Amino acid sequence: MPHRFEGKVAIVTGGARGQGERIVRTLAREGCSVVIGDVLDDLAKTVADDLGDSVVHTHLDVTSPEDWAVTVALATSAFGGLDVLVNNAAIYRKQLLEDETVADLDKVLAVNLRGPFLGIQSVAPAMRARGGGSIVNVSSLAGTTSYAGHGSYSMSKWALRGLTRTAAIELEPSKIRVNAVLPGNLRTDMSPTTGSPEAPTGLKRQADPQETANVVVFLASDDASFVNGTDIVADGGSLLG
Ligand SMILES: NC(=O)c1ccc[n+]([C@@H]2O[C@H](COP(=O)([O-])OP(=O)(O)OC[C@H]3O[C@@H](n4cnc5c(N)ncnc54)[C@H](O)[C@@H]3O)[C@@H](O)[C@H]2O)c1
Repeated sequence: MPHRFEGKVAIVTGGARGQGERIVRTLAREGCSVVIGDVLDDLAKTVADDLGDSVVHTHLDVTSPEDWAVTVALATSAFGGLDVLVNNAAIYRKQLLEDETVADLDKVLAVNLRGPFLGIQSVAPAMRARGGGSIVNVSSLAGTTSYAGHGSYSMSKWALRGLTRTAAIELEPSKIRVNAVLPGNLRTDMSPTTGSPEAPTGLKRQADPQETANVVVFLASDDASFVNGTDIVADGGSLLG
């Protein structure tokens, strides 16, 4: 196993379970120190305890600027700086447009869009102090197409791609790359068809979240040093029809 992240420090939001947990474990295996930021404190603690001293967790509600300040300060005090941010946390609510309340819409946009926005704002100074960094935003296939019942979620994931491009342009002078991953259907707690072999993807199966975590970790690494301001679709070819 290569140690692409030796000496590096990452924050992974939503790292307590699902794809985020796989990202945390993969980064840690490759030598990275990691701060897990999640609202599921007990699960986050279990993952951190399992991985030893190089992984810590903190209560991060990504919608809260105060929580972001604490999380970035923890990365710096525990590990000496910050090189990588993975904006992975999100929520999904299946709701037809005509049934969706403004409160539900606002909640989804707050977590899925304001969260990554605050994350980028919060980590930029610490990354600049290190001479650069890499930010990976987890969008979705619903960020390049959509499905019935995906109104607020799809809005948030399309907009996250716009935020990715703006951030890439503005942070390029500071040598901070910003990219997005658009996963297809994953076998996690979020997915409404968890474990279903009938999941409608090109490979006729849901992805194991490790398969998309690997793409996120690639973009976070120096192997992607010439990749900036773009997206990688990881959907098993489902867009091919
Ligand atoms: N599951 C899928 O089929 C699928 C498909 C495409 C994209 N994605 C994206 O992949 C990412 C990971 O999703 P997953 O499938 O692992 O889902 P998941 O629900 O298992 O994990 C999401 C994590 O985010 C955390 N979270 C939720 N709200 C938060 C908040 N306010 N602050 C901090 N953390 C919060 C949760 O506690 C959880 O640990 C998400 O961005 C999701 O939109 C998932």
